[in-house]
Amino acid sequence: MQERIERLKEQFETELNKARTGEAAEALRISYLGKKGAVTELLKGLKDASNDQRKEIGLHVNQLKKYAETLIQQKVEEIKKAEIEKLVNSAEKYDVTLPSEDNVGSYTPITLVQRQLEEIFSSMGFTIEDFSEIVNDYQCFESLNIPEFHPARDTHDTYYLENGQVLKTHTSAAQNAIMRKYGPPLRAIFPGRCFRNESTDASHETTFFQMEGIMIDKDISISNLIYFMKKMLSEVFERDVKVRLRPGFFPFVEPGFELDINCLICGGDGCPSCKNSGWLELCPCGMIHPNVLKMAGIDPDEYTGFAFGLGLTRLAMMKYGVKDIRDFNSGNLKSLSQFKHE
Ligand code: DAH
Repeated sequence: MQERIERLKEQFETELNKARTGEAAEALRISYLGKKGAVTELLKGLKDASNDQRKEIGLHVNQLKKYAETLIQQKVEEIKKAEIEKLVNSAEKYDVTLPSEDNVGSYTPITLVQRQLEEIFSSMGFTIEDFSEIVNDYQCFESLNIPEFHPARDTHDTYYLENGQVLKTHTSAAQNAIMRKYGPPLRAIFPGRCFRNESTDASHETTFFQMEGIMIDKDISISNLIYFMKKMLSEVFERDVKVRLRPGFFPFVEPGFELDINCLICGGDGCPSCKNSGWLELCPCGMIHPNVLKMAGIDPDEYTGFAFGLGLTRLAMMKYGVKDIRDFNSGNLKSLSQFKHE
């Protein structure tokens, strides 16, 4: 028996030496160590041996089994290594110092405006927050003082998931969570993609970007709101802009405003872009409604704050003179490539 084991060992070593591929190594494993493999068969032959013999031979066979397993494993690794080396050596050599073709990607105007705003606001102490595009009814409406049958929901028709969640219709949907997360005093902006059920045309899209901002502290007033809005817009448009506030209704602010800027094309004299009014509607805003503060666990007797919901897509259109909002989602390289060197 001992002899058979030795012979089998030698035979195994010779065959393993010849194996050149992973498949060949695997085939060897099966033919020696598999259910019907030569080593396994040896163990079966022990049935008729005496107890002592069985112990002794069993030990040797098991040693052989382990030995064979280890060798096969080593062989497989060797083969893998050799294959990788072969690949690396055959790979095309390239020169990293050669100039590349000028077909690098570019940022969309929305990203450019967003980054610019993020820089402006962080320099004024605002943090930049991220928030989910899928929100629940409470975040999108209830916590913003828009109860279930409130007419304000009509303009916020959106895409509903089967579990009752919605694709957020405005970045205001993050207000409650962010107020809860940080508590007052608080300065934060949160840009994000919004979704509404819209018929698309040159100025309406089902998917667009907004940037929300909130500032909450003791004694925050409308003057603070105007100051920050003016400062931000002057930097974005790189000139002094005039702003005006008109009353506007949004359930989550009181008072609420529409903030207009003087038309940058005609300077306020009146032209087709501003429908001859001299003003462009840009950013709804207002003083955060006490109910909204309360729902976020903030005491409205102690703290006040302002909020604004800047239409990022709209702002990008104004800043870069994009006439059709659908250009942004069209994937049209002719439009996008113009922003390459910004
Ligand atoms: N979330 C509003 C909308 O998309 C816009 C808005 C209005 C946001 C007033 C505000 C605000 O923060 O104060 O219709």
